[in-house]
Amino acid sequence: MQKPTELLFKTQFEEDVHSGLTDFPKHLSSKYFYDEKGDKLFQDIMHMPEYYLTQKEYDILLNHTAKIAQLFASGNPKFRLIELGAGDGKKTKILLKHLLENNFDFKYQPIDISQNVLNGLEASLKRELPQMTVEPQQGTYFEALEKLNSENGSKKIILFLGSNIGNLLHEQAIDFLKSVQELMQKDDLFFIGFDMKKNPQTILDAYNDQTGITAAFNKNVLARINKELGGNFNLDKFLHWEVYDPESGTAKSYLVAKEAQSVSINKLNLLIDFDQWETIHTEISQKYDDKVVTWLAEKANLKIETEFSDVEKQYKNFVLRKG
Ligand code: AVI
Repeated sequence: MQKPTELLFKTQFEEDVHSGLTDFPKHLSSKYFYDEKGDKLFQDIMHMPEYYLTQKEYDILLNHTAKIAQLFASGNPKFRLIELGAGDGKKTKILLKHLLENNFDFKYQPIDISQNVLNGLEASLKRELPQMTVEPQQGTYFEALEKLNSENGSKKIILFLGSNIGNLLHEQAIDFLKSVQELMQKDDLFFIGFDMKKNPQTILDAYNDQTGITAAFNKNVLARINKELGGNFNLDKFLHWEVYDPESGTAKSYLVAKEAQSVSINKLNLLIDFDQWETIHTEISQKYDDKVVTWLAEKANLKIETEFSDVEKQYKNFVLRKG
């Protein structure tokens, strides 16, 4: 393993790749799965029959639309619907359509790190719901939320769907929830999706599809290193491996080296050696139970107002208020 002559990194990506691949055991963050190709692969994952999360949350929103809308408008009827990590808005559109058709007094403020994603969402909303007021905000969740908060605006309803919180370790999740809590006022609501513990096989299948889409998604971090940092990873020399611990509720994704090999990353002036069967840990997808959600909320000084779930209670959307 070679040290770069100068440990000066131009981007967070460079720094994280360097520290993750020189650490033991090796790791890379799942946030680097998402470039244009990764976004597309994640869209494909959301359409896979094994990846039940999307359909479950879609059904919850569809089956409880009117109740959810009433809750959003309770107290003060005027509100801003702020979505963190809006994506293609497919699930949110169920709510938006209902709110519009029933003359709720609201505007929609989607936040996403990707301007590309926001442009696509805005264009589709213009076509499908042309009367709606949409104010997209590009940036990280907190930059954008802080900016929106400084506006002298109405009540905030903050949406965080897709069990995106599951990609955070509990400590990070608490920090995240605390930061949202600090930006909330007494009347604001936080509507957040949690994927619940269930038959471990169902979870393993969701992250280990036969068609190999999840494997390609996982390996996309290596493809990005090749493309953006001048790496020479041979993607065929790694396999995607998923494990799920039903006790902790943590699903973990790994890339496993099928043979001993050396990989160079030009931009980092780095040569990385892999032993046969050595791993790179890339993602956690946490599954929850009621106790853990209550604990996380308490730690962040949030209280659970109510929850919506599917009949089998495999997925839940919790409504949280400032504690
Ligand atoms: C975005 N996130 C909630 C997904 C998940 O379920 O952890 C990402 C994903 N990874 C593999 N499949 C989907």
